[in-house]
Amino acid sequence: MNSGKKEPDALSRRLFLKSSALGAAGLGISQFGCSNGKNSNKSEAPKIQGFEDTSKAPDPYKGWVSFSERKIRVGLVGHGVCKFASQFGFQNHPNVEVVAVSDLIPERCAEMAKACNCQKTYPSLEELVKDKTIEAVFVATDAPSHVKHCIEVLKHGKHVACAVPAVYNSLEDADRLFEAVKSSGLKYMMFETSSFRETNYAMRQIFNAGGFGQMVYAEGEYYHYMEKPIDSYQGWRIGLPPQLCPTHSNAFYICVTGGSFTEVSCMGIPSLIEHLKAENNRYKNPFGTEIALFRTSEGGIARMAVSWDTPGDGGERGRVRGQRGTFYDKYEGLETKLPNLDRPPLPPGMPLGGHGGSHGYLTNEFVYSILQDRKPLVDIAMALNLTVSGIVAHQSALKNGELLKIPQYNF
Ligand SMILES: NC(=O)c1ccc[n+]([C@@H]2O[C@H](COP(=O)([O-])OP(=O)(O)OC[C@H]3O[C@@H](n4cnc5c(N)ncnc54)[C@H](O)[C@@H]3O)[C@@H](O)[C@H]2O)c1
Repeated sequence: MNSGKKEPDALSRRLFLKSSALGAAGLGISQFGCSNGKNSNKSEAPKIQGFEDTSKAPDPYKGWVSFSERKIRVGLVGHGVCKFASQFGFQNHPNVEVVAVSDLIPERCAEMAKACNCQKTYPSLEELVKDKTIEAVFVATDAPSHVKHCIEVLKHGKHVACAVPAVYNSLEDADRLFEAVKSSGLKYMMFETSSFRETNYAMRQIFNAGGFGQMVYAEGEYYHYMEKPIDSYQGWRIGLPPQLCPTHSNAFYICVTGGSFTEVSCMGIPSLIEHLKAENNRYKNPFGTEIALFRTSEGGIARMAVSWDTPGDGGERGRVRGQRGTFYDKYEGLETKLPNLDRPPLPPGMPLGGHGGSHGYLTNEFVYSILQDRKPLVDIAMALNLTVSGIVAHQSALKNGELLKIPQYNF
C-alpha cells in the first residue's frame, strides 16, 4: 500500500509531462487514434496521434513475475487503416504464440504476417477459425462485422478478444452476442483502450478502495476532428454517428465503477461537415457532435461527449466526482490511505503501445484471464453496457433528446 498523496502526485506529474510532449502533435493528423488518408497502409504514412499517445511510466516491467510457462495459441485478424490486430503486442507476450494472421486484402495480410513474425496466413477470419490448433482470436476487423466475427470465433470453440465497439447500431445484435458468450463458457473481452489509461486505472483502484464513495457525477470525452471521412472497410466511417463509438468516453464511468447507464437524454446539432449531413451518409445521420446525459446505476449523473466536427483540442479522457472525493488528473478527497495507483507490471518485452500506453495491458489482461480462468476486466456485460448506451443515446439525439431507457447487462 502506498500512502496518501504520493501516488496521485507522481501520476499527475507523469500526465503533465505526457501532455506537454503531445502539445506539438498538431491538428488533424489523426482521428480515432489512427491515421487518415489512403496511404495509411504504407510505410510513409503520417505519424499517428493516438498511437504516439504512450505512457511515461518509469519502469512498467518492475516487479513482474512469471507464473506460467503455457503459451496460448492465438490468431490475429484485421490489418485495416489502423493495422490494429498487430498493435497490441500479442507477438511479444511470453504466454502467447501467434499461430496465424488474416486479412481479406492479401497485401495487408502479408504485411501483418511480417509485422507479427508469423508464417501462417489465412485469406479470411472464416478460414482461420477452422484451424483447430488456435485457442483464441483477436478480432480487429471493421466495426460493423464485430458481432458476426466474434460469434463465428465462439462457435468454433475459441476465446475471443474484440476491438471496440462490441456491437454496431443494433440492440438485437447485442442480445445475440450476450447469449452466444454466456452459452459458450469461453472468454470474451473488448479491448477498450480507455480502461487501461493511467487515469482510468487509478480511478478504478480508488473507487474500489472506497475513496470516492457513491459517485455523484462523471464526465468523459472522445474528441477527434474528422473533416474528411477516414478510410475504412466498405466506408463504415463515412457519416458515422458519434454515439455509435461511445466506449472511450463512457469508460470514464463504466470502467471506473463497473456500473452502467440506465437512461439517457442526448442532443446533437446539425453538422457543417459534408459527410456528416444526413443526405450524405448511409446512416441518415445529421450530427457530428452528440452530448449524452446519463442516469447511472448508482443513481448519479454522467455527461459523455463524442465529437467529430469541432477542430482543436482532441483526446479521450474523463474525470469523476464522488461523495468522498474527486479525480481531475489527481485524487482530492477524504481518503488518506490510497492503494497503489500504478498499473500492474507487464512482462518484459511487451510494448505499452498507444492510447495512453494501454495496448500491452489489454493483451495481458486477456491472456491472464485465460491462464487464470477468470473474467477479464472488460467482459461481455461491461462491453455491452459501454456500447449499447451509446446506441440508445444516438436514438435519443434523433428524437431531440427524448429520455430513453437503456437495456442492462449483468454476467
Ligand atoms: N482506441 C481504439 O480502441 C480504436 C482505435 C482505432 C480503431 N479501433 C477499432 O479497430 C477496428 C479496426 O479499425 P480499422 O480502422 O483498422 O478498420 P478498417 O475498416 O480500416 O479495416 C478493417 C479490416 O478488416 C478486414 N476484414 C474484414 N472482414 C474480414 C474477414 N472476414 N476476414 C479477415 N479480414 C477481414 C478488412 O479487409 C480490413 O482490412 C475497428 O473496429 C475500430 O473501431 C479502435
